[in-house]
Amino acid sequence: DLHALQGLERGLLRIAGVTTTEYFIAHWLQRFAQRHPGIEVDLSVDNRDRIIQRLQDERCDLAVMMMPPPTLDLETLDCLDNPLVVIGPRHHPWAQRRKVPAKALNGVPWLAREPGSGTRLATEQHLQALGVQPQERMTLGSNEALKHAVAAGMGLAVLSRHALNRDPALEGLAVLPVAGFPVRRQWKLVWRRDRRLALPAQAFIDEARQILGELSA
Ligand code: PGA
Repeated sequence: DLHALQGLERGLLRIAGVTTTEYFIAHWLQRFAQRHPGIEVDLSVDNRDRIIQRLQDERCDLAVMMMPPPTLDLETLDCLDNPLVVIGPRHHPWAQRRKVPAKALNGVPWLAREPGSGTRLATEQHLQALGVQPQERMTLGSNEALKHAVAAGMGLAVLSRHALNRDPALEGLAVLPVAGFPVRRQWKLVWRRDRRLALPAQAFIDEARQILGELSA
C-alpha cells in the first residue's frame, strides 16, 4: 500500500522559509514527516535576501516566501494569505478608534525589519503607494525583537498577522486600524524551474497541494 511504499523512501528535503513562515511551517512539516518517515528534513529560516541567495546557490530545494525574485526562473505555488498589519503598543490611543487615516502615519516614530527583509520591502512599497512617510527610528533583525520594541513603546511597525498571537494584547500589542491596511500578500512555495527536483522536494510539493486542496474545500 501507498504508505508502506512511502516508508521505504529515503532522502533529504532541504526547505527554506522566510522568517514569517516559522509560525506555520512546522504544521506542514509535521504532516510531511508523518507520511514520509524515511525522509530527513532540513528547514532553514532566514530573511528574503538570504533565502534568494540559498535558491541561487542550490543550498535548498524549495523555499517559501512572499515575493519571489524576478531574477530567478522559478515555479510558484500560492500557499496562504499573509496579511501585513500596523502594530502599536497595547494601549495606543489609535487602538480605540474605528479608523485612522493613512496620513496619520506621517512622521510617527517607526520601527522596521532590516534591509533584506521581504516584510520591510513590502512595507516600503505599500507606504510609498499610500504616499505616507513615517520616521524610521530603528531597524530590528527579527520579528520577535521588533514586537518587543513596539510593545515597549519605541514606535509603530508593520508585521505579518501570523507573527502575532491570536490575541496580540497578551504580548503587549494592538493591531491599529489604519486605512489602507492590512497589506494583502501571500506566501508562495517556490522552486527552480531550471533544475531537476529531488524526490523529497516533489513529495513535499504533492503534500502541499493536498493540504491546500483540503483548506479550500
Ligand atoms: P522576511 O520575510 O521579512 O523575513 O524577509 C517576509 C517575506 O519575504 O515573505
